[in-house]
Amino acid sequence: MTATAGQRPAPALPHWDRTPEDLAAAVREIKPALRARIEASGRTVEEVFAAVERRVEARVAEIEADRERGEEVWPVLDYDAIAAGTVTPAQTAKLRKRGCLVVRGHFPREQALAWDADIVDYVERNEFFETYSGPGDDFFGSVGSKPEIYPIYWSQAQMQARQSERMATVQSFLNSFWKHTDDDGTQWFDPDRDALYPDRIRRRPPGTDSAGLGTHCDPGTLDLWMTREYQKAFRHLFSGDVERYDPWDAAHRTAGPQYPGSTMCSAFRTFQGWTALSDMDADQGVLHTVPVPEAMAYLLLRPLLPDVPEDSMCGVRTNQVFPVTERWHPVLYRALTPIPDVRAGDSVWWHCDMVHGVAPVRDQKGWGNVMYIPAAPWCPRNEEYAANVREAFATGSSPGDFPEEHYERSWTGRFTADQLNETGRRGLGLS
Ligand SMILES: [Fe+2]
Repeated sequence: MTATAGQRPAPALPHWDRTPEDLAAAVREIKPALRARIEASGRTVEEVFAAVERRVEARVAEIEADRERGEEVWPVLDYDAIAAGTVTPAQTAKLRKRGCLVVRGHFPREQALAWDADIVDYVERNEFFETYSGPGDDFFGSVGSKPEIYPIYWSQAQMQARQSERMATVQSFLNSFWKHTDDDGTQWFDPDRDALYPDRIRRRPPGTDSAGLGTHCDPGTLDLWMTREYQKAFRHLFSGDVERYDPWDAAHRTAGPQYPGSTMCSAFRTFQGWTALSDMDADQGVLHTVPVPEAMAYLLLRPLLPDVPEDSMCGVRTNQVFPVTERWHPVLYRALTPIPDVRAGDSVWWHCDMVHGVAPVRDQKGWGNVMYIPAAPWCPRNEEYAANVREAFATGSSPGDFPEEHYERSWTGRFTADQLNETGRRGLGLS
């Protein structure tokens, strides 16, 4: 932004690199500090927020227009085009704009179905359902006696997919949308090395009734406003030059701490993702996103407007997901879009800041099975967490970001160290 007559030196922000003891007091301290810093730019908070709202509204209007024309809102690419480097500039532009992607045929359908059967064999052989003692956290509720989310991390299927060349190819492609190296040469992350972030499996059977998951975003909670690293990452939003904010800039995102909590993710993920292990139709309780990566600007500035109580950040608290609601964020809701129908072997990806949720379903048709595998490129934050992952892998334990359930410690058929290929060893920091 160009200098304006009212510009003043921007005052520094208070910061809390650990969860503040008195959250309400910290909120009451950070809000006026953020406003003062923004207003030193010469514009009011309302003017700056209006600029962000116009930018987001323009994206939302494009999405509505696409929908009306019957065009697919979600970008869809064939794996073969990604692998061959034949993705067109128009497809690249759409991915950058929407921040999400379905990869068709990421894995052959037979491979994905075989992996699904393998997982069933693995959990049944090890009497998982007989020993399952209920959800280890309150984030994903279980619907019946059998869990929907399996707290399983080290099956052959998961590790084969995580260390596969096809996975590495798509992760590198997606990472390349980020600015991973600064103009001064600082490399924030290595786009061609993934840290194999271990996550769980979902297997949702036919006939399921599910309440879904409310819309939210995952990169943090109050830490997004309060830690020094996040304040640097969102520096353009917090100093009023919002026109320079780039949701694809990794600067200061790959080292900082996150406030602990049951929903935290220690890793930096460029994209969240999962690989489908069954066919799923778009009306069967699937993932929805608000396919607007810069919506984070709206979410972070919205609590500074005068209609929000002074001790509230629009409902954001520590130790719970960041809620996105019609009350505070109505414009975003207009863009909420389900994934297209997917088939086993397709994969689904969304920018780590993006608003998402899972639709409710009654009497689900067909299975809804996925392996959660994100893109978590090698960086200081992921290298640090990799030590925990190596230990969990060696002992069959639940990784540090997840409840301490450790079902697989005594299981047979776990993926073992001698089965790692070079990608797997690099991802775990073993070579
Ligand atoms: Fe989420």
